[in-house]
Amino acid sequence: MQHLSSSETRTRFLNFFREHGHTVVPSASLVPENDPTVLFTTAGMQPLVPYLMGEPHPLGRRIASAQKCVRTGDIEEVGDNRHLTFFEMLGNWSLGDYFKNQSIRWSFEFLTNKDHGLGLDPERLYITVFAGDANAPKDEESIGIWKEEFAGVGIDVQVDRPLAEGGRIFCLPAESNWWGPAGQSGPCGPDTEIFYDRGEGHGAQTLSDGFPDFDSGRLVEIWNNVFMMFNKTEDGSFIPLEHNNVDTGMGFERILCVLQDVATPFETDAFLPLIEVLRTFVPEAVQQDTLSMNIIADHLRAAVMLGVDGVRPSNKDRGYVHRRLIRRAVLKMQVESTDWIHPAVEAVAGIYAEQYPEVGAVVAEISQSIEEEVRKFQKTLGRGKQEIAKRGHLTGKDAFDLYQSYGFPLELTREYAASQGVTIDEQEFEAEFRKHQDLSRTASAGQFSSGLADHSEQTVKYHTATHLLHQALRDVLGHTVQQRGSNITPERLRFDFSYPEKMTPEQIQQVESIVNEKIKADLPVGTTEMSPDEAHTLGFLGFFGHKYGDIVSTYDIGGYSREICTGPHVEHTGVMGEFKIQKEEAVSAGVRRIKAVLS
Ligand code: ALA
Repeated sequence: MQHLSSSETRTRFLNFFREHGHTVVPSASLVPENDPTVLFTTAGMQPLVPYLMGEPHPLGRRIASAQKCVRTGDIEEVGDNRHLTFFEMLGNWSLGDYFKNQSIRWSFEFLTNKDHGLGLDPERLYITVFAGDANAPKDEESIGIWKEEFAGVGIDVQVDRPLAEGGRIFCLPAESNWWGPAGQSGPCGPDTEIFYDRGEGHGAQTLSDGFPDFDSGRLVEIWNNVFMMFNKTEDGSFIPLEHNNVDTGMGFERILCVLQDVATPFETDAFLPLIEVLRTFVPEAVQQDTLSMNIIADHLRAAVMLGVDGVRPSNKDRGYVHRRLIRRAVLKMQVESTDWIHPAVEAVAGIYAEQYPEVGAVVAEISQSIEEEVRKFQKTLGRGKQEIAKRGHLTGKDAFDLYQSYGFPLELTREYAASQGVTIDEQEFEAEFRKHQDLSRTASAGQFSSGLADHSEQTVKYHTATHLLHQALRDVLGHTVQQRGSNITPERLRFDFSYPEKMTPEQIQQVESIVNEKIKADLPVGTTEMSPDEAHTLGFLGFFGHKYGDIVSTYDIGGYSREICTGPHVEHTGVMGEFKIQKEEAVSAGVRRIKAVLS
């Protein structure tokens, strides 16, 4: 096995699939556009859901990407060798094009080829396939294809046998080998997972029965090929999709551990430059505490990447997650100054200089926003500490009040109280603490479940309204207005944009009338595909520092609004109704937010 850097690994993956006819699309934002059902992009397939469900993709039927993802469902577990908040997923997709045969053969070739793949030893690869149940039969087809591939390199494969007897392919039930989005509904199907044996010194290879131990950490899942055949509906039934798809996902940091032969992602080049910078700022005791260092690095990397996609600390939704990541990192760092912030953000920008150059462009802005949050938090801590010291004894409710009114973290209360000789009602405190944790878990389970982009009629209207609003804002406020975020539900639209000051009531009124005028004019909405250069020359808007594929879809609303966008939109603006701005407020320095409704 050769040592491959993170850049080289990503490049090889994308080149491999490009050479096999895939269009490589840039990573979508961590903040799902026009998808009210999720807080963050949590898998490579998420931005592709409409296409997996049957909508034609403007760039063809073979797609590949390295997608930025954030998962915070298991924030408490972050920092061990498996859980990361921010990570990348490499993936290739067939949208009704190739299926199991081609997918498995390419996976095998990419993993084992030394020149244009990863050069892994096929002897170390182990495979699981779907064992079959009432919804779909045992995946004999995949078993046959895998056997042929291994036979091609002289490896004779047994199915469902102990390793000592040549066992290499294992049939597992739906809990392991059926993939669907975490939410209740969405595209799903049987999958085949590829594991790599990291060898001795990485845990047990087999269980006592001689079958593989998939939990010991020695056999790591490196790639998942999902054969999407069904849409699972809200009521739990499985409807065959319009066409069969392939959806694959390779955890980028996980494969880097294998290729760089290290135990955890924190020792790969996707983290080391950041950890080295952090080491120069944190006290010796923290440096020695690997788990803390890992958590700090994970959270800061995620906070920076969320910041780049427009998230800012707040008390709600994404902003709250962002805030929690920063605060948790700061608590662990035990550093009073804020000198570390700029170098740390720069280190993250350095790690992604090649793949996500947009990070480098906003180092100053992100550093400033993190610094504001850190200063706020330091004040909070100061006030909370005074309160604790004043009291002498804390009931569980006191601790919770400290958390609610000062944002003083519960996990810190006990530690700080002890250091001040303040006693705590342990039992009551525990109960409050658990209640709070359960609440936040339930909240995240609801919010992080992946799901479908909602393409209801109302959502589509709001999407078109968002484009009109964007242009109207530029007409009224000038061209410093750039889209910073968009979130649409069937009830309202929310649009974030760059602008330095509060809008006046007159400006709001003007924007509203322009949008309503364009709706009344019943403008036709047209879509055309063209190269990004052409789109820019023709004045189509496309912000977010996106890099685009070779061909983009553009939407033109009666010559008034022109944007690069994948749709969907209404055909005529006349159907949209009356547009009303309900609120205009600040999100962060230089970014404003408008909430508006159609009635
Ligand atoms: N969507 C599949 C996964 O996330 C590939 O594992």
